[in-house]
Amino acid sequence: MKLLVTGGAGYVGSVCARVMIDAGHDVTVVDNLTTGNRDAVPEAAAFVEGDVGALAPEILDGASFDGVLHFAAQSLVGESVEQPEKYWQGNVVESLKLLEAIRTTGTPRLVFSSTAATYGEPDAVPIVESSPTRPTNPYGATKLAIDHAITSYATAHGLAAISLRYFNVAGAYGGAGENRRVETHLIPIVLQAAMGHRESVKIFGTDYHTDDGTAVRDYIHVYDLARAHALALEAAISGRHAIYNLGSGSGFSVRQVIDTCAEVTGLDIPVVHAPRRAGDPAVLIASSDKAIGDLGWEPTNTALPTIVADAWEYTRALGDRAHSAPA
Ligand code: UFG
Repeated sequence: MKLLVTGGAGYVGSVCARVMIDAGHDVTVVDNLTTGNRDAVPEAAAFVEGDVGALAPEILDGASFDGVLHFAAQSLVGESVEQPEKYWQGNVVESLKLLEAIRTTGTPRLVFSSTAATYGEPDAVPIVESSPTRPTNPYGATKLAIDHAITSYATAHGLAAISLRYFNVAGAYGGAGENRRVETHLIPIVLQAAMGHRESVKIFGTDYHTDDGTAVRDYIHVYDLARAHALALEAAISGRHAIYNLGSGSGFSVRQVIDTCAEVTGLDIPVVHAPRRAGDPAVLIASSDKAIGDLGWEPTNTALPTIVADAWEYTRALGDRAHSAPA
């Protein structure tokens, strides 16, 4: 297929672009490089620099694209609380312009990068797609708003659309991984501490009602996530917007993640205890049964040590190209 990948210089977008190219698709990446890295865009992809909303109409016009994979977004939960305007403009307004470009050019398929943050604090785990959506921060609210817009475009205009709600994505693939200018995610932070690039890891909250008192998350390998996008492109049906959770179905606490990183790296990881981070749910675990059943998705790298080992290999190989700062 001929595919437009928005945000293809970012972590998940660049891995998905690689997996699409490996599967024989023809990929064009559009990215404004405000958070992405130019060197993360695969060499085999065409690259257009700039904002999605401004550029999508001309990129899609008359070019017979088969589909769009939409990753471009602002995605820091804490920042979204402090600067919601950046999220409503950058996520919702840009995505609405993209949807209009998709509609007016008759581009048939859309796969959207949605998030577990659309659910907020769950009543029960594992979280299924019919669980209530009550986002606890503007990041999740903007992603949910886009999901709603996509549903109405699919119904009214025949778009074939799938939203994939990611849980905690980690790991690396094909030389692409997590290398953000501002890092807030647990696994890259722990690995930076292992490298000696940070003094210690702060454990945000040790008083949760979990086995060891720290928060529990469902970590999914970025390659498995990317494979789900390839399957979603094939499975999308005109006039329907389907939503799927993507996780491994197992929960690991912050302490378990840190212990796994220490085992995989063979290095000491100093930790300090810190208060809970605002808006953090205690336990988030996905049910991915719907994706497994409908899409034929088979996650293969679900073991946490495998995910950490791939992230560690990538982190060590980065050398001088590493450029993240504490949030
Ligand atoms: N954590 C720490 N110390 C750190 C960083 C994180 O203790 O330095 C903890 C967090 O408090 C949380 C867990 O590690 O309990 C995982 O935190 P991440 O920041 O790695 O991931 P989140 O679960 O907060 O966020 C992920 C995605 C978001 C998405 C969210 C859905 O990264 O994009 O899941 O809830 F919105």
